[in-house]
Amino acid sequence: MDNVLVTGSSTGLGLETALYLARRGFRVFAGVRDLGHRPTVLEAAGERGVELTVVQLDVTDSQSVDRAVETIVESGGGVYGLVNNAGIGLRGCFEDLQMCEIRDVFEANVFGTMNVTRRVLPHMRAAGRGRIVTISSVGGRIATFGLSAYISTKFAQEGFGEALALEVQPFGIRSILIEPGIIKTSRWSVNRGNAAHALDPASPYHAMFVNHEALADRFVETRKTRPHHVAKAVHRALTSRWPRMRYVVGRPASVAIALRGLMPDRVFDWLYFGTLLRHIKNDQAAGPAAHPRDPELGASVAASRNRAASGAMAEATYDQIESE
Ligand SMILES: NC(=O)c1ccc[n+]([C@@H]2O[C@H](COP(=O)([O-])OP(=O)(O)OC[C@H]3O[C@@H](n4cnc5c(N)ncnc54)[C@H](OP(=O)(O)O)[C@@H]3O)[C@@H](O)[C@H]2O)c1
Repeated sequence: MDNVLVTGSSTGLGLETALYLARRGFRVFAGVRDLGHRPTVLEAAGERGVELTVVQLDVTDSQSVDRAVETIVESGGGVYGLVNNAGIGLRGCFEDLQMCEIRDVFEANVFGTMNVTRRVLPHMRAAGRGRIVTISSVGGRIATFGLSAYISTKFAQEGFGEALALEVQPFGIRSILIEPGIIKTSRWSVNRGNAAHALDPASPYHAMFVNHEALADRFVETRKTRPHHVAKAVHRALTSRWPRMRYVVGRPASVAIALRGLMPDRVFDWLYFGTLLRHIKNDQAAGPAAHPRDPELGASVAASRNRAASGAMAEATYDQIESE
């Protein structure tokens, strides 16, 4: 049985991934920042009829990382897989963010990811095999509104994951990125991560940010992508003989990324970012009942583009809005 460490397993995508991997024969070490979550994680495992080991792991605390990795190594079997899932959000337009908030989100999402990765790599090199799977986001490929700092961390994870892949492949180790679109988890409620001044009415960005948040909240309820889709992609990344560098999770996310690759930048920017901005700026005028997928929106996009392309773009755009 191969050992896999999943960071941020107290809830959301991390918990589902830990349970999914345990179900499929991995020996899972579920990292939780606060051991107070241990009973709920074990209860979830019991309900699914799987076994896993809960370890305390704060990715921003090197001693905690050392202890967690030692626990795994001492239990035997080394570390075959690391799932870098732990992360925090930060919502708010750049001028409304404080540097300490920006540092915190980089500390968890970027330096935390690097911190755990550098601690497991020597064990993987010694074994001549291993997989580093990092949960990035579609937001690591395409930016969105009101999330500049968070998006920066996801772009950083993408750069790190891709560059690392080149360095470790000669040692039999793969670095793989998972790019989910929007998925309803506690990230959208208790872990939302609004910056202290994100909703300050005095901010010049206030109206647009509020519109964007309302739009995101309407759409998060309609998404069809679920945590188990991410877990499945992680499983594939861990088990495929020839894993891909990236796995996009969710159809709208796939459409958006594919269109960006296919379209000239100017066309993509006008359609994708333009649609988003037009909607955020006009949202109040459109009224609370307006739905971004309603015919009015389709018509505005389709005015100068063919119907099929604009339909796909509208859906992709609004999924991206929700991608935190
Ligand atoms: N949900 C989405 O729409 C979505 C889309 C694309 C990508 N993602 C990415 O997927 C990952 C998981 O997101 P989620 O939706 O499951 O979020 P979530 O429900 O907020 O869960 C985040 C997890 O990370 C943990 N965590 C935060 N800071 C930590 C730290 N310093 N050390 C260790 N653990 C820490 C949290 O632990 P506590 O319980 O202790 O806070 C929690 O277990 C994140 O990297 C996120 O950026 C999410």
